[in-house]
Amino acid sequence: MMVSTVPTMAAETAHLSIDASKTGAKIDRNLFGQFAENLGNGLYGGIWVGPDSTIPNTRGIRNDVVGALKALKVPNVRWPGGCFADQYHWRKGIGPAAQRPATLNSAWGGVVDTNGFGTDEFMDFMQQIGSQPYVSVNIGSGTPQEASEWLEYMTAAAPTALAKERAANGHPDAYQVGFMGIGNESWDCGGEMTADYYVSQLKIYSRFVNDVNPAQQGKNQMLKIAVGPGVPETDWTETVMKAWQHHNWAWDFNGLSVHWYTTPNGWPPSTPSTGFGIDEYTKILKSTLFMDEFLRKQEVVMDRYDPQKKVALVVDEWGAWHAPLPGTNKDFLFQQNSLRDAVLAALNLNIFARHADRVRMANIAQMVNVLQAMILTEKEKMVLTPTYYVYKMYLPFQDAALIPVDFDPGTIHRDGVTLPRVDAIAAKDASGKLWIEITNIDPDKPAEIEAAISGIVFKSAKGETLTAPAVDSINTFAAPNTVVPKPILATVKDGRLTLSVEPKSVTVLSLEP
Ligand code: AHR
Repeated sequence: MMVSTVPTMAAETAHLSIDASKTGAKIDRNLFGQFAENLGNGLYGGIWVGPDSTIPNTRGIRNDVVGALKALKVPNVRWPGGCFADQYHWRKGIGPAAQRPATLNSAWGGVVDTNGFGTDEFMDFMQQIGSQPYVSVNIGSGTPQEASEWLEYMTAAAPTALAKERAANGHPDAYQVGFMGIGNESWDCGGEMTADYYVSQLKIYSRFVNDVNPAQQGKNQMLKIAVGPGVPETDWTETVMKAWQHHNWAWDFNGLSVHWYTTPNGWPPSTPSTGFGIDEYTKILKSTLFMDEFLRKQEVVMDRYDPQKKVALVVDEWGAWHAPLPGTNKDFLFQQNSLRDAVLAALNLNIFARHADRVRMANIAQMVNVLQAMILTEKEKMVLTPTYYVYKMYLPFQDAALIPVDFDPGTIHRDGVTLPRVDAIAAKDASGKLWIEITNIDPDKPAEIEAAISGIVFKSAKGETLTAPAVDSINTFAAPNTVVPKPILATVKDGRLTLSVEPKSVTVLSLEP
């Protein structure tokens, strides 16, 4: 029998100590990347409605979704998958819409795909939201030639046949591709390869699939991302990094991708995304904190083969993967998004920030209507999720320099689960302003924060906090403002910052000169 500890509501004090003169690694803005797979209503309906839709759109792409995403300054978007990537044949998604073949999306529910959202539409979407493309090339059912021609179609500036074809499709200027993933989960849905076989493929694709845009040679080059593991064990990483250590001029990669979802009950994911209590909240947060150990294990191996940290660790799929919302197509991975998910997002972003010397890119799964989404849509309606607001609040951390925070997080015990009470990170932005994030994990008690801050002159503090009445509070089309940030008061005196943060909350503050 589970014994529930009866909580008292008295606040606990957390003491933080920050020396703003001690700057650490850059929190790369690419840690705030997103993932938009051709899955369920992630693209179709969520982003793409087509130019003839009654839903306001620009060249077929929803204006409301673009507006919301623009405000997040999304640094990069991974597309077209995921598992879908290794069945995607790019030629089916270019040219006049009426001539594109209908295909089956056999990765996700076997639904008919019109191919209306293809390469040029993705690039248009990137330009509309101001983000960098991260394309995953098909190494499962495709060929090096197909992938190489795709990159040439996108990036050739010289008048090659493929560049002319792109121009004939309305896009004379060569696109820039920020990142290219070489396969996806190649140990599973991407072809169930062994690590050694994958390395052979990796060498070939790395050698022959290139961004040929003259503007992207040298410093601005497209970064190549190799497949890494989706389990804490490190054998795959060992094989790939060992090969990398001995790579020659003919091939290389710049990042190793890992996937780690929060699924505390194992597989298939079964945690509900609505209507749960504090026991589910604590269990999931405990599980999500494993991300730190997961990354450490991979870093130990990477450090051995790459002590200079040239290869980035790229967490290009992560987030809470819950049971599909009852009544929805289970293959569409549609779930609601609660205050719990917002706290979970903050804890993971803080872990990434603390690993910023190696973890330089991450992509939450996924952007719209799939898994831990930023945005949910239904026909013409749109709602921003609690996770969206965390990303908005964390904007100042993009490319800021990490500042270490010394603190005793304390502990909470609930239903047999022990968790830290609070979490915090700090960073200095390009203008020299100090930003502090505090997560109060405790579902019941506020936390009194007392921060001793040196190395910077400040007179006041201002910020926002995100919380809601319950751990399972959500935003809906009918009530979109249940979980939205609100201003928070903080006191500054003699280099000390004091404030009270509410239970189950995410708070971001700046210190003002
Ligand atoms: O994000 C959903 C799926 O999870 C992706 O397609 C796959 O890469 C992973 O297993």
